[in-house]
Amino acid sequence: MNFSELREDFPTLRDDNPPAYLDNACVTLKPDSVVDAIHEYYTKGPGCGGRSVHRYGTKVSQATSASRAKLAKFLNAESHKEMVFTRNATQSLNQVAHGMKWEKGDVVLTTDREHNSNLVPWLQLEQEQGIDHRVVASRQDNTFDMEAFEAACADAGDNLKMVSVSHVGNLDGISIPIKEIAKITHDHGALICVDGAQSTPHMNVDVQALDIDFLAFSIHKMCGPSGMGGLWGRYELLDELRTIQGGGQTVQTSHYDGLEWAAPPARFEGGLGHFAGMVATGAAIDYLSNLDMNQVKEHEIKLNRIMSKTVSGLSGVDIIGPEDAGQRGGICSILMNDLPAHDIALLLDEAAGVMVRSGQHCVHSWFNNRGHENGSLRASAYFYNTEEEVKLFADTFEEAVQAFS
Ligand SMILES: Cc1ncc(COP(=O)(O)O)c(C=O)c1O
Repeated sequence: MNFSELREDFPTLRDDNPPAYLDNACVTLKPDSVVDAIHEYYTKGPGCGGRSVHRYGTKVSQATSASRAKLAKFLNAESHKEMVFTRNATQSLNQVAHGMKWEKGDVVLTTDREHNSNLVPWLQLEQEQGIDHRVVASRQDNTFDMEAFEAACADAGDNLKMVSVSHVGNLDGISIPIKEIAKITHDHGALICVDGAQSTPHMNVDVQALDIDFLAFSIHKMCGPSGMGGLWGRYELLDELRTIQGGGQTVQTSHYDGLEWAAPPARFEGGLGHFAGMVATGAAIDYLSNLDMNQVKEHEIKLNRIMSKTVSGLSGVDIIGPEDAGQRGGICSILMNDLPAHDIALLLDEAAGVMVRSGQHCVHSWFNNRGHENGSLRASAYFYNTEEEVKLFADTFEEAVQAFS
């Protein structure tokens, strides 16, 4: 697959002097087809789907149903009825956490390298409802510790109710063996919720093959519109879930003294939705469906190997995770120790047009636990990035480190 040719599809990459955009773990660039779909919604039929029966309404209803079906196919869900549109992965994870029924002492396991979106909802439930949130420590190199996980499951015993883990970490790009984790989780009679924000854009994710229960993901990290995320859940589980946003669309009917809930997914999509985003999601999924996701993953690893080679030779900084870039997907996250991460990120942009992320990437707990308040500088690649771009990043970074040391 010639990924360089695809750059022509992205308006920001067609600029005369496009930046080397390496902040894809935060949000990805959008191809023409997605921008066009948004434009078409606003210019040719900005109606309300699912309710109004006039032409605009019908067109939006049909387009959003088509997007839902495409998403279901992309993730190999059993039915489009299992796909819920949300604002982002954060809302999806909150819907799961606050939609379930909890009893005091129920154990929820996460790892020690979760994004706040998969930590804060559980901490909140611990504060407010008395669940017992426990953290499974990773190995020294941040990879998943299966023995520690099995021991934590055994220790929780019958109280284990949920395992909620990120498939790929935004801190370090490390992926964890979800299928095996799901099997162990189910053997202990618990459910597994996967934070797929960093996996669904970069690899094949098949919810049935993984045998998981919930998957939260960020459509805005999949070439889709900002303000769009998704939640997949096994239908019978969604059907038992309480919505965290009751209102229009969420009920079959209501009376002054009661209501009948709508079936999933409508029950979880209260209020007028981001229809432009839902329509354009279909265009984003069409775009990704035309790519070979195995090749996407390989391409990102190839780019990561190039940048990691230069970075690992520098003194004063350390790459988070295993030395082998093959285990870190497209993410090269660099512990800055005493060096000013934000200043260097600004310099990279101003001096060389290289855009990266600096700070704690919403994984404060990991940095706080290790006393790395300065955070890391993270370069994250996607299929449209080139070898020249990551070399430019690595060389400019090397100069910056030398200048600040
Ligand atoms: C691993 C992970 N989980 C959750 C999130 C939150 O995603 P969203 O911004 O769609 O809520 C992110 C965002 O960077 C992430 O990387």
